[in-house]
Amino acid sequence: MLKQEINELLTQTGPGTPMGALFRQYWMPALLAEELPEDDCPPVRVKLLSERLIAFRDTEGRYGLMDEFCAHRGVSLWFGRNEESGLRCTYHGWKYDVTGQCIEIPSEPDERHSSLCAKIKLKSYPLVKIGDVLWTYMGDPARPPDLPQWEFARVAPGQTYTSKRWQECNWLQALEGGIDSSHVSWLHSGGLKTDPLFKGARGNKYNLADMKPYFEVADSDGGLFIGARRNAEEGQYYWRITPWVMPSFTMIPPRGDHPIHGHFWIPIDDENCWVYSYDYHPTRPLSAEELQAMKDGHGVHNEYVPGTFRPLQNKDNDYMMDRAAQKRGDTYSGVKGISMQDASLQESMGPIVDRTRERLVSTDSGIIMARRKLWRAVEELRDAGVRPPGVDVAHQMVRSAAVVLPKDQSFVEGCGDALRARPGKKHASV
Ligand code: FES
Ligand SMILES: [Fe+2]
Repeated sequence: MLKQEINELLTQTGPGTPMGALFRQYWMPALLAEELPEDDCPPVRVKLLSERLIAFRDTEGRYGLMDEFCAHRGVSLWFGRNEESGLRCTYHGWKYDVTGQCIEIPSEPDERHSSLCAKIKLKSYPLVKIGDVLWTYMGDPARPPDLPQWEFARVAPGQTYTSKRWQECNWLQALEGGIDSSHVSWLHSGGLKTDPLFKGARGNKYNLADMKPYFEVADSDGGLFIGARRNAEEGQYYWRITPWVMPSFTMIPPRGDHPIHGHFWIPIDDENCWVYSYDYHPTRPLSAEELQAMKDGHGVHNEYVPGTFRPLQNKDNDYMMDRAAQKRGDTYSGVKGISMQDASLQESMGPIVDRTRERLVSTDSGIIMARRKLWRAVEELRDAGVRPPGVDVAHQMVRSAAVVLPKDQSFVEGCGDALRARPGKKHASV
């Protein structure tokens, strides 16, 4: 249970809020690189941390992310012409470069033109392509952190795939689903047997056989390692370890030789978030079958309403609930697909869940500790300017793991280096 003011502190991310200030310390996914596929392609609306922005790629391939609205009289630059190294407002022709600097006001006389342009600059943020994602940093321009080093974005192009989807609830309850390992045995139990990106791993049988996992949470430099322990063979435990790196990166423990996957949960505004879902293999290209399964919406991915990032199964169609499948046990909840099983339940909690009414139990220890860490980091940043965990790129070099360990060994000790990203080395997975 949280006090109302703490719930508000952790869930509000707009300009001027303490949690918004925390998010502005990090490089965050702003859009998929495929959304700006070529020079001078159409601009894309992007809403992040409750700010309405426009992203575009100019004639020289430079990326820009800036205020969506023209400085002249507030027209949306989504209608703009992207041409000759700038985005031109189609109302009266004012033109901006990728930094938001106004470079042309065609109606003004020559003698005033350059001095007037120089005074007009839209708010803008850097936009950088790393892997399949365009990243932005919305904080103090004088102090940008080092560029992100997440392994999924740094492996060779053929080894990684990222999708994104719109989720209609606050970022924190979506994140909390990502660090809540205990729901896997229930909500996703059907998928462990059938999903092409999960099935066949030895670990799955421990998951399904032991429905009462014991949780142990360990601090990490960037956040937490959440260990879920289940019984394995005599004298051994099966451990699934989920790293969470502040503020909103999670990585699901792997299964067999399947690619590793996880999420970024990015606030659009206080009642909506982007879920970036990545899949990568540290040591081999993704196979054609794996890529196809990801594009078809299996694993952590999903199908879409055509032409949008809204899931095909959404709250307007009750997520295409199939009661017969629920009754037969094909899926536990009757909703198809891991990501839609998660989204349906998280959205059902309302846009911002009332955490003053919840009843947490022992399996929620990861969530409790993550909230505490976020809360502390928000206050230390606000009150003393302390740089939060997860900004340092060394904190980003983590991996999830799924291992069988002797009963007397702690998971941190037993995993050792397996919880660190080691370029070119295989992940620890059973
Ligand atoms: S509103 Fe954009 S040029 Fe006038
Ligand atoms: Fe889930």
